[in-house]
Order: sequence, then structure tokens, then C-alpha cells
Amino acid sequence: MNTTYFNQKVVWITGASSGIGEELVRQLDQAGAQLILSARNVSKLNEILSDLSQQSKHMVLKLDLENTSNVEELTNEIMQRYGRIDVLINNGGISQRATAHDTSMEVNRKIMEVNYFGNIALTKAVLPIFRQQKSGQILVISSIAGKFGFHLRSAYSASKHALFGYYESLVMEESDYGLKVTVACPGKINTPISTNAVTGEGKAHGQMDHNQATGMPVDVCVKQLLRALVNNKHEVLIGNKELLAVHMKRFFPRLFWKLIPKQSPT
Ligand SMILES: NC(=O)c1ccc[n+]([C@@H]2O[C@H](COP(=O)([O-])OP(=O)(O)OC[C@H]3O[C@@H](n4cnc5c(N)ncnc54)[C@H](OP(=O)(O)O)[C@@H]3O)[C@@H](O)[C@H]2O)c1
Repeated sequence: MNTTYFNQKVVWITGASSGIGEELVRQLDQAGAQLILSARNVSKLNEILSDLSQQSKHMVLKLDLENTSNVEELTNEIMQRYGRIDVLINNGGISQRATAHDTSMEVNRKIMEVNYFGNIALTKAVLPIFRQQKSGQILVISSIAGKFGFHLRSAYSASKHALFGYYESLVMEESDYGLKVTVACPGKINTPISTNAVTGEGKAHGQMDHNQATGMPVDVCVKQLLRALVNNKHEVLIGNKELLAVHMKRFFPRLFWKLIPKQSPT
């Protein structure tokens, strides 16, 4: 990776309190970026901040993706301190562990609110700044579930598919303003995502699933995410053999429908 690329860049990271977001914070701190760490759990964000090598360069901003009415105020706070935003990393999200049959409408809406509406609310708040700067970069964390549906992931998969449509359109529209967008599709990454996933009634699943525990180490995933940003990739798939399902669906759909529904969802 080009290690100077992120030096002094102002990078706003959502979902910075855990998993992929937390590791993004650590690697970007090492790369010299100025970071805005956002999530709901501020004490966890402060704990992560206190561990970083260049603490004084960074700030913590509480953000609830389910209620983004204050995103413009948050954006103003960032602008007051740094005077610009170079990269927005839309990473915060929640997963699901319930069939479509058993998932309440409330939970369907919550997942869509956090993973889709919350995500694009931040993008809309930074877009005028990116236009004015005539530069800006967004990393969107979708999922391989944004490429194909899967057991126990109906709402999650729908929210991650939606991000593709939105950001493919956006990057075409904003090309004259120099906007760069990378949509990432991680497969199985070893983070607490399954523990934090919601059941059909909105309770925490509370279990580290086998697929998660045996997934790609999060530091490897984040290195690949940052490389994709540096290289301005439109799309990047990150994971191990589970990525084959994406290619199988595209090139051998009959095989996909024979094999993939038999895979374990946890
Ligand atoms: N791990 C994987 O295998 C995998 C695969 C594909 C895609 N992804 C995607 O990668 C992203 C990060 O997931 P992860 O694996 O790192 O999971 P994680 O460890 O559970 O982290 C999720 C992050 O999202 C934040 N978040 C959740 N609800 C939020 C809300 N209402 N408002 C603001 N922040 C919220 C959490 O912070 P707070 O709870 O503090 O708010 C946390 O920082 C997600 O978008 C996920 O869908 C993960």
C-alpha cells in the first residue's frame, strides 16, 4: 500500500467502536490520517482513541445511524475543526439472524434505517463539501450479502443491495466534481458482527457464529480495504472461499442455486 496516501487526510469513520471500523481507525492512525471516530458507544470510542499513537489529531463524534437528524451539525463540527473532509467511510451497520417469516416489520425498518438511510444521510451531508472542494472519497461497506440473498439475512441483504444502486448512481452523477466511491463486499470477517446482529424481535443474537470466528482476520480485511481506496477501485470483494459464490451466481447460476442454499447460515 502507498503509505503516504492517507497522511494528514481527514477521514470520518462510522462504526468505529468495533470490528472493521475499529481496525480501520488503528491502521489509519498509523498511516498519519486525522480521524473522526463515530458510533453510539462513546466510552468505547474514547477507549480506542486513548490507545492511538497520534491521539491529538483525532476526535470522537457520537452518531446514531438510526436517528440522523443531527448529521449536518456533526458535519459542521468536523469542518470547524479541520476545515475539510477528504474521506467518508460508511462502515457502521447491523446484521440479522432470523428468517423473513420471523422478522417483524419494526426490525426490517431498523436494519434499513441503520444500513441504508443512515449511511446515505451522512453522504448527503458531506456531498456539498465534496462538491465545493472538487474532491472527496467515500468507502461504503456493503457485503457479499449485497450480491446475493442468503438464509436469515433477508433485510440485511436487501439493505446491502440497496447501497449498490445508490452509490453507482451517485458516482456517475458526481464525476465532474471529482468524487471517488469504492463499494466493498466483505465475506466472512472475524468481528463481533454476529454477536451484535438482531433477531426477528430486535434482540441481540448474542453469539459468535462459527462462520464469523473462522473468517478472515480483521487486520487483513482492513489492509485490503485501504488498498482498494488508494487504488480508487469501484468495487472490491474481500474474504476467502465464500467469495466464489459471487462469481458462481454470475457465471454459473444453476450451480449457485444447487449449492449455496445448502450452506450453513451461521
Ligand atoms: N464482519 C463481517 O463478516 C462483515 C461482512 C460483510 C459486511 N460487513 C459490514 O461491515 C460493517 C462493520 O461490521 P463489523 O463486522 O465490524 O461489525 P461490528 O463489530 O458489530 O461493528 C458494527 C459497528 O457499527 C456500529 N453501529 C451499529 N448500529 C449503529 C447505529 N444505530 N448507529 C451508529 N453506529 C452503529 C457499531 O457501533 P455502536 O454499537 O457503538 O453504535 C459498531 O461500531 C457493517 O456494515 C457490516 O454489515 C461485515
